[in-house]
Amino acid sequence: MKILIIGGGNMGLTFAKSFINSKIVDNSNMLILEKSMKKADELKKLEIGTVFGEPDDYVEDADLIILAVKPQDINSLFSTIKPFISQQQVVLSIMAGVKIETIQKGLGLKKVVRVMPNLPAQIGTGMSVFSSSAEVTRIELVMVQNLLSASGKTVYTDDEVMIDAATAISGSGPAYVFYFMQGMIESAKALGFSQSESELLTYQTFRGAIDLFNKHDFTCEEWIEKVTSKGGTTAAAFNAFEKQRVKEGYQEGIESAFHRAQELSELE
Ligand SMILES: NC(=O)c1ccc[n+]([C@@H]2O[C@H](COP(=O)([O-])OP(=O)(O)OC[C@H]3O[C@@H](n4cnc5c(N)ncnc54)[C@H](OP(=O)(O)O)[C@@H]3O)[C@@H](O)[C@H]2O)c1
Repeated sequence: MKILIIGGGNMGLTFAKSFINSKIVDNSNMLILEKSMKKADELKKLEIGTVFGEPDDYVEDADLIILAVKPQDINSLFSTIKPFISQQQVVLSIMAGVKIETIQKGLGLKKVVRVMPNLPAQIGTGMSVFSSSAEVTRIELVMVQNLLSASGKTVYTDDEVMIDAATAISGSGPAYVFYFMQGMIESAKALGFSQSESELLTYQTFRGAIDLFNKHDFTCEEWIEKVTSKGGTTAAAFNAFEKQRVKEGYQEGIESAFHRAQELSELE
């Protein structure tokens, strides 16, 4: 299978590396189209595939074309690659807020998969939620799922609106986690720990809680009950959280992210 990645920036490179590292594709079957000469030169040094600066006949050879450019660059991209596109090719887009229908119309083809990945894909612990047009076959979807699994976990959805929902949860989600971590680090410093101690206490607490959650079959609510004793320190913290409506606050934040994702999808 030949894969063409268009846009060798953060995400394009992340996917290229994950495919090569997991040996799903070897570098003789990996093509990268990157218009920035500086980035193209850096990509060539990595030897993960053949790097091109302009679209040409090789676009026709790709079984799967991955669109990893910024959403504002799609119109010029569509016009340059459309002459080389054929109906049997599958296009996989990781562009935020660009609908399947827009890609079908822009490129004049039917088989489109839309994915919302997230940043931890860089280290193999990403979360990708994907949806597709009806014309993508089951076998093609399995192939796409195998590729996405090289950079983390995957969830398939029939309903494209759920890609906007995934944008609000797992797409933006790493930033929410960093926000909570930042709050904990600042509190640890205020209580007298050094910066590095505060980071270690916070990181290890997040990690330990996640590992516990993964290892046993309890809900978050049950875990909170296990840590909290009546009249104790955790209960005091939760009284303050509830007074400040902390949970409601971040739920409102996620809802706003979802509405913004929908607005952006409508803007293109
Ligand atoms: N970063 C994230 O966490 C994340 C998460 C989910 C989804 N995404 C999506 O991933 C996509 C890529 O994001 P990114 O952060 O990887 O962007 P990026 O680092 O800017 O990479 C995009 C690359 O594509 C190049 N490019 C633009 N038009 C091109 C064309 N016509 N032909 C070939 N190359 C072209 C750009 O070159 P120039 O620099 O010269 O323009 C740039 O090097 C975006 O659509 C974004 O919505 C990103």
